[in-house]
Amino acid sequence: MIKRVIPALICLTLVLSPSFWAGQQKQLDVPYVPTKYPVVDEMLKMADIQKSDLVYDLGCGDGRLVIGAAQRYGARGVGYDIDPERIQESRDNATKAGVTNLVKFFEQDLFTADFHEASVMTLYLLTSVNLKLRPKMLKELKPGTRIVSHNFGMGEWKPDQSSTVMIDDISHEVYLWIIPANVSGTWTWTMGKPEMKGEMVNAQLFQQVTPSFKIGGKAAVARDLSLKGDQLRFVLDLPYQGKTVAATFEGRIGGHSLTGAVRFQDGGKDVVWDWKAERHPATEKPIDTDADKYGSPFGMKPPAKVIY
Ligand SMILES: C[S@@+](CC[C@H](N)C(=O)[O-])C[C@H]1O[C@@H](n2cnc3c(N)ncnc32)[C@H](O)[C@@H]1O
Repeated sequence: MIKRVIPALICLTLVLSPSFWAGQQKQLDVPYVPTKYPVVDEMLKMADIQKSDLVYDLGCGDGRLVIGAAQRYGARGVGYDIDPERIQESRDNATKAGVTNLVKFFEQDLFTADFHEASVMTLYLLTSVNLKLRPKMLKELKPGTRIVSHNFGMGEWKPDQSSTVMIDDISHEVYLWIIPANVSGTWTWTMGKPEMKGEMVNAQLFQQVTPSFKIGGKAAVARDLSLKGDQLRFVLDLPYQGKTVAATFEGRIGGHSLTGAVRFQDGGKDVVWDWKAERHPATEKPIDTDADKYGSPFGMKPPAKVIY
C-alpha cells in the first residue's frame, strides 16, 4: 500500500508545484516566421496608422510590426507572444529602436488577450486561427478598428481592401478589414417640413448591408450605400415640394441610435436637415451568421437569436 501511495503523492506534489507548470508551455498555434520588412511597410500603410492609434500584434515574433508603427508613425503598440524568447527579442529590439516608451510586450497566449483597447490589429497567423479569433474580434473591437493580416483570410468575411507585395518572385498578400457597426434591423425617423416618416430595414452580413426603405409610407430605392466602421451613407430620391430630389443621408451609429444629416439641393440652394433615427432593439441581429460554425474558445454562446 505504502509503496503505491508514496509515488502517487510525489507525482501530485510535482504537478501542484509552480515550477512544474513554469516548465510547461502551450504548443505554438503558429510557428515563428517573421514578416519581411516590405510587407510590414505595406501592412502599416494599409492600416492607415495614426499617432493616436494603439496597435496590437497577436503573435508578435520579434516585435517588428508594433516597433515599426511606433518608429514611423509615433503610434503606441502592444505585442503578445507565447514564446518567452520572442518576447525578450521584442523588448531588446524596442530598446535598440528607442521606442520603449510607446510599446509593451506580454508573454501571453493570444487567445486570452483583451482586445477592447486596440484601434489597429495586425496578424500573421493562419486562417484557422483567424477564424477562431473572428467572433472575439467582432465582439470586442470597436467599429472602425482596422485589422490587417499577412497572407491569411477570415473565411466568409471578405476584406475591405487587399494588395500583393512581390519579394524574390514570391507573392505576399495583405488584407484589410474594418470592424463594421451593427446596423441590422428596423430603423425609423421623421424629417423635413411637411413632416415625412422614414423607415429602413437592414439585413447585414459583416460589412455588407442589404437595405429596404420606405419614405412617406412608399417604397424607395437607395444607391451608393456604404458602411465604414460606424459611418453609414446612402443616396435616396426624396419627394420634396412636388419634385424629386437626390438626397444624401450620412449618419453615425451608436448602439440603437443614428445621428447625422440629410443634404440635397433645391433650386441651387443647399438644404440640410438633421437626421436622427432609432432602431427597434428587438430587430437587431448578429452580423456574423457563422460565429458558431467554427466554435469559440471563449465560452461565447452561439449567436442565434442573440440580442446584444
Ligand atoms: C508567423 S509568426 C508572426 C510573427 C510576427 N507577427 C510577424 O509578423 O513578424 C507567429 C507568431 O505567433 C506566436 N504564437 C503562436 N501561437 C501563439 C499563441 N497561442 N499565443 C501567442 N503567440 C503565439 C509564435 O511564437 C510566433 O512568434
